[in-house]
Amino acid sequence: MAGGATTRITAGRPPVSAASLRAVGRPLLRARTLPGPLFSDPGVFEQERDRLFRRTWQCIGREDELARPGSFRTVEIAGSGVVVLRNASGELKAYHNVCRHRGTRLVEATAGDGLRGIVCPYHAWSYDLDGHLRGAPHMGGVEEFDRKDSGLHPVAVATWRGFLFVNVSPRPEPLERSLGGFPARARSYPLERLRRTHRVEYEIAANWKLIVQNANECYHCPGVHPQLVKLTPYRSGEEDLRTGPVFGGWMDFVDGVRTLSPDGKTARATFPGLSATDLRRVYYYVLYPSNFLSLLPDYVTLDWFIPVSPDRTRLVFDVYVDRDEAHSADDAMGFWETTNRQDWHICEMAHLGSKTSAYTQGRYSTEEEVVHLVDQYYLGRMGWLGPKG
Ligand code: FES
Ligand SMILES: [Fe+2]
Repeated sequence: MAGGATTRITAGRPPVSAASLRAVGRPLLRARTLPGPLFSDPGVFEQERDRLFRRTWQCIGREDELARPGSFRTVEIAGSGVVVLRNASGELKAYHNVCRHRGTRLVEATAGDGLRGIVCPYHAWSYDLDGHLRGAPHMGGVEEFDRKDSGLHPVAVATWRGFLFVNVSPRPEPLERSLGGFPARARSYPLERLRRTHRVEYEIAANWKLIVQNANECYHCPGVHPQLVKLTPYRSGEEDLRTGPVFGGWMDFVDGVRTLSPDGKTARATFPGLSATDLRRVYYYVLYPSNFLSLLPDYVTLDWFIPVSPDRTRLVFDVYVDRDEAHSADDAMGFWETTNRQDWHICEMAHLGSKTSAYTQGRYSTEEEVVHLVDQYYLGRMGWLGPKG
């Protein structure tokens, strides 16, 4: 059992009525949206960390960011520090970034190379890259102190087609289960060959669920994204994964558009092996609850949602192209910088209103079918979806 992120299961109910939750579970045309306190209550946020973010795989980027033995990254998963590294044999390992002596954070840097071991900055206990305790000054006479039992607490790490995932659960579910139907949808895209061209971090003053909801509808697109709807009409496409843990589908390009860029054009080659249909589409999938992937004919994007508090979400956004692609992806990044800022701003506006007592549960439109499914999935995962009413 890991020490630093020991899971505290809170059996509590959210601070809303059972009837208000049942109203979310009704059929779409009779359903009501999530009650406002779910977006702002600190107790709800803690339970989300326990029941969702400490039990699910999170894609933090790509395996090639840890290129050689001694390469490392540190990340925060549901309030716990994690160090991910490559050991001397080249295997990926992850540990809670917590000293076994008095709990000090071990590695402060966010990334680096050449790590040969980990030395605690406080009293110099030292660990090798396999997590074993190697040195512990002045512990020789201490009774019932076993170095073999004092190694770093491990964290699960896994890869899928070059993407790097971590899961702080002591008993993680298989990664394949959390990918749901996504691998089949992404089969023709050469994901192993991707190379990252951009990484941008955003701080968003909005609850993470508003950002996930926003990623699952284009009802907002005509008002919020005038440049996007010229390339992909907001009612085009279809949502083909709807049951979780993956939600999403595709949208169609208008004639003459080859990708999502400021002018819909691209100098990049399209990925080999895509069908004529795929060349006219962008696929969007939420890997619930932490990631959002977009597959385009010539590039791929990844969002990693990191809830910091009920009111704040950090978001890491990556752009990837084929490793042999010589042309810049600045146009793609520019397009998404505009689109992302539009989304985060409207999510912040939604947060400001929906957390107030003046907000009472609204109604879903027929363009928000998947938001309704996602909200019900959320309540189910939290154990809060009562009998249908
Ligand atoms: S807290 Fe790490 S050596 Fe003391
Ligand atoms: Fe949007």
